[in-house]
Amino acid sequence: MATISIEYSNPLATQKDLAWGVESINRTSPESDQVASSLLEEMAAATGLPSFVWIPCRRYWKSETSLPTWLTLSPALVDRFLYANGSTLVDLGPSIRFLGFPVTLPTGEVAILGSVAREGAASAPAEWILAATDAGWSQAELTQFVDSLLCIPRPTLERLCALAGRHFSSMRTVDRLDDELQQLTSQIEYTFEEISLLHSLTQRLQLSRSPLELANHCLARLHSLIPAAGNAIWMQVDHDRHHFSVEGHLPLDEFQLARLTSRFEEHDWSRPLVKNNLAKTLLGADFPGLQNFILVPIGEAPFRRGWIVSCNLSDDKEYGSVEASLLGSIGTILGTHLRNIELYREHQSLVISFVRSLVQTLDAKDPYTRGHSERVALIARRLGQELRLPADDLEDIYMSSMLHDIGKIGVDDRILRKPDQLTPEEFRAIQQHPMIGYRILKQLKNLQHILPGVRSHHEAFNGKGYPDCLKGEEIPLMARIIAVADSYDAMCSDRPYRKGMPLERLEEIFRRGSGLQWDPNVIDAYFAAREDISEICRAYSPTGADLLAELPIETMARRFL
Ligand SMILES: [Fe+2]
Ligand SMILES: [Fe+2]
Repeated sequence: MATISIEYSNPLATQKDLAWGVESINRTSPESDQVASSLLEEMAAATGLPSFVWIPCRRYWKSETSLPTWLTLSPALVDRFLYANGSTLVDLGPSIRFLGFPVTLPTGEVAILGSVAREGAASAPAEWILAATDAGWSQAELTQFVDSLLCIPRPTLERLCALAGRHFSSMRTVDRLDDELQQLTSQIEYTFEEISLLHSLTQRLQLSRSPLELANHCLARLHSLIPAAGNAIWMQVDHDRHHFSVEGHLPLDEFQLARLTSRFEEHDWSRPLVKNNLAKTLLGADFPGLQNFILVPIGEAPFRRGWIVSCNLSDDKEYGSVEASLLGSIGTILGTHLRNIELYREHQSLVISFVRSLVQTLDAKDPYTRGHSERVALIARRLGQELRLPADDLEDIYMSSMLHDIGKIGVDDRILRKPDQLTPEEFRAIQQHPMIGYRILKQLKNLQHILPGVRSHHEAFNGKGYPDCLKGEEIPLMARIIAVADSYDAMCSDRPYRKGMPLERLEEIFRRGSGLQWDPNVIDAYFAAREDISEICRAYSPTGADLLAELPIETMARRFL
């Protein structure tokens, strides 16, 4: 029996393909059957011969109707085709010939694609006689079938075999390239989605965004990238507050998640924990419904602030490095954001403590004006509201008002506390306080934006104020507002050397001084808000700088950090 093997640079099946074929025993696959059928049609069209396809590992046989149902390949023939490197011509008896190729189907199964021909007056080989007899065929029927086979001389059949081999080799190459293209396309799509998610996340890392909002944003977009039964984020956002956000059907509640994480305390959390195939494992038994999962920390120890968990990947798929990498990136970003918020809070606390200390120092130095800074701050903020200033500006005005007289720290106590009329020299000493305050606070980078109020709150609208003799709108608006609030509180309050001025008189002074001492717009704002301002002063109680602590973190973070 002569055999011709034709070599190809790109063989149709590799040893790896064959191994997959062995693994897929007993597997049924409509997809493979469909591909096998189309290959059969292709083979018949390419060779013009009655053709068949044979999937040995699950004994799937399909042939053209011109071939009898008993015609299959013996194990010996199967081996000849499977282990041939490319297309093969196999003689069966003296003049019956098979030509065939191993091909790998989508399931990984290896099939043999072949055709049958004869040369000259052929007689049926012994194995056909046995098979036909078993199938109830008569000798005449078998002879008729053999005679019906196309008669093709060996050289022609060899060329046909070679051409068909090349044809299928090319088809395989095209299919492979097509598969690679599809894989590449879906990989690019996934990467784009991944980058898009991480980009959208980093775009939302302002301190004003709550961690819960970020977590929910991640979970909402995560499902399209990691189609799991459930994804969840558990975060410790404060000393006594945490969030547990779940998307989908998580087979773990909060308590079980805590139990799961504690089980892996020894894990090296610089990399995600990936667990697949939990069925029939101790872990699977302890956490029923958990088939596979990825667990990543939010933040690194000692600043770990929570966990991201993804459970039960869809379609029985296993978690891999792609999912682990994405969740790891999200965990790092969220962890960094939470840590930043903590740092901002610490910084905020420092700034508040500092301002509180300054105000208390001033109050201790000049007890007669205790509470002045806070009242001016409250009044100035109300004037700012009346002038429709944005919230950020109102908080700046508030903070600047709190510190507007801080320069008095550098003025002699005897002058500050003097109950009598000041001498010109003493008055000049007092007039130094805006610049002294400015110089003190100028050193502090985080308070730069409130300096105009401190330096210029004694400027007059007509240019006759101090220290810079600024005029009109040359004076920063913050300072023009503080000037009105400062004057109001100074005139209204009792001092050791005089009683507070009646409101009617004060307002008369405001009217006369509008456009001269004070900005007319701010004076108008005062008259529009006069009842509120009276109420602010009436209701005022010296709470100290604790009012500062009421500033929202967003404001502090935005304005002072
Ligand atoms: Fe002042
Ligand atoms: Fe003042």
